[in-house]
Amino acid sequence: MKAAVLGYGTIGSGVVEILEQKKELITRETGEEVSVKYVLDLRDFPGDPVEKILVHDFDTILNDPEVGLVVETMGGTGAAYTFVKSALLAGKSACTSNKALVAKYGSELLAIAREKKLNFQFEASVGGGIPIIRPLYSCMTAGNITEITGILNGTTNFMLSKMDLEGRAYEDVLKEAQALGYAERDPSADVEGYDACRKIAILSSIAFGKFVDFEQIETRGITDITKDDMAFARKMGYAIKLLGSCKNVDGKIYASVSPKFLPTGHPLYPVSGVFNAVYVKGDMSGDLMFYGSGAGKLPTASAVVADVVEITRNPGRTVFAGWADETLALSENTGAENQYFVRFNAADQSVEEAAAAAFGAEEITKIDHEPGFALLTAKMTRAEYEEKAAAFSQIAQMIPVQG
Ligand SMILES: NC(=O)c1ccc[n+]([C@@H]2O[C@H](COP(=O)([O-])OP(=O)(O)OC[C@H]3O[C@@H](n4cnc5c(N)ncnc54)[C@H](OP(=O)(O)O)[C@@H]3O)[C@@H](O)[C@H]2O)c1
Repeated sequence: MKAAVLGYGTIGSGVVEILEQKKELITRETGEEVSVKYVLDLRDFPGDPVEKILVHDFDTILNDPEVGLVVETMGGTGAAYTFVKSALLAGKSACTSNKALVAKYGSELLAIAREKKLNFQFEASVGGGIPIIRPLYSCMTAGNITEITGILNGTTNFMLSKMDLEGRAYEDVLKEAQALGYAERDPSADVEGYDACRKIAILSSIAFGKFVDFEQIETRGITDITKDDMAFARKMGYAIKLLGSCKNVDGKIYASVSPKFLPTGHPLYPVSGVFNAVYVKGDMSGDLMFYGSGAGKLPTASAVVADVVEITRNPGRTVFAGWADETLALSENTGAENQYFVRFNAADQSVEEAAAAAFGAEEITKIDHEPGFALLTAKMTRAEYEEKAAAFSQIAQMIPVQG
């Protein structure tokens, strides 16, 4: 198998490194030697061993009949889409670490791969080094997946963990995440939840077998989470985590990205720092949890190389993966039942009593020397919550509780 790696950045260079370092192991696993014939990048890499195989023109790869596989690690949905699509149309399989590409064009690329008896695989696009996509479509086929809930973005998990453990403010931990290289100068893809949204869209599509459009997923980030929310969460026995989630409730499929209150007993509760984890419920498998490095050069590249191995093992045969070329209609989240954490910015006994009665709260929580109070509502739909909340101008925050 001769492969071409598109993009020699963090992940692409990791893929080249692993394929070289683990050559013997990979040859044993696939029964065939896998070698990188080309590396495509915009830059030159003087002194780097890839210098000899570096090209700047994708057509060199496209027009070389010896290349059977392109490994896309450039990112984005521009050239990455054009190159992967034309490679598939030219009879070359493809794999990618690019969640934006898979969430936007996955259906089309999977359909071309199937038609041409090729493979399009994307294990590293969700959860970096955590094996999650292949377990969902392969190991869990003997039952239905009923729920997936994941900590899918390491940057925001790092920030929320710091806010929780060190009692620091959002702006302060964002600066630290940027200084450490975890967050971009423009952090919106992480902190607004867009990155997690694309990842839960991919997982939902696999779990429910039809394309889930990321643009239809209600997405809320962590920008309005305050030190006060963290302090109340801790006192009430919860952590606040940014969760991507999809659920099948009596045939209705709900999906969202939102900060959630996680109870101490939940398997995702102890997942802190830059780690990712995905909690999956199946009607036959029961509860499963996948945990590990959601990013990073070698963990992510190892997941890409696993695709390279799978593709090399299956020449002329499309491995069942992905979803049908049909869009799944998500149900409105306003109809889903939940408990809610609600924080009020004024402590006045009449407001406390009225709020407890309106929301069916069992207790009111207060923190010494802090203004306001908080409560957990009874279970209700979001539409019901919003109707009741309209009567309270003192509400400063609402965060759903993970059931
Ligand atoms: N980094 C992680 O931990 C991680 C984890 C999971 C998934 N991913 C995904 O993996 C992909 C790659 O991420 P990365 O961190 O490796 O990015 P990166 O370090 O920026 O590497 C991308 C490389 O591709 C090159 N490139 C971009 N456009 C190109 C084009 N049109 N033609 C040729 N080369 C091009 C870039 O060159 P220039 O630098 O000159 O632009 C750069 O060398 C992304 O989709 C990302 O979301 C990354």
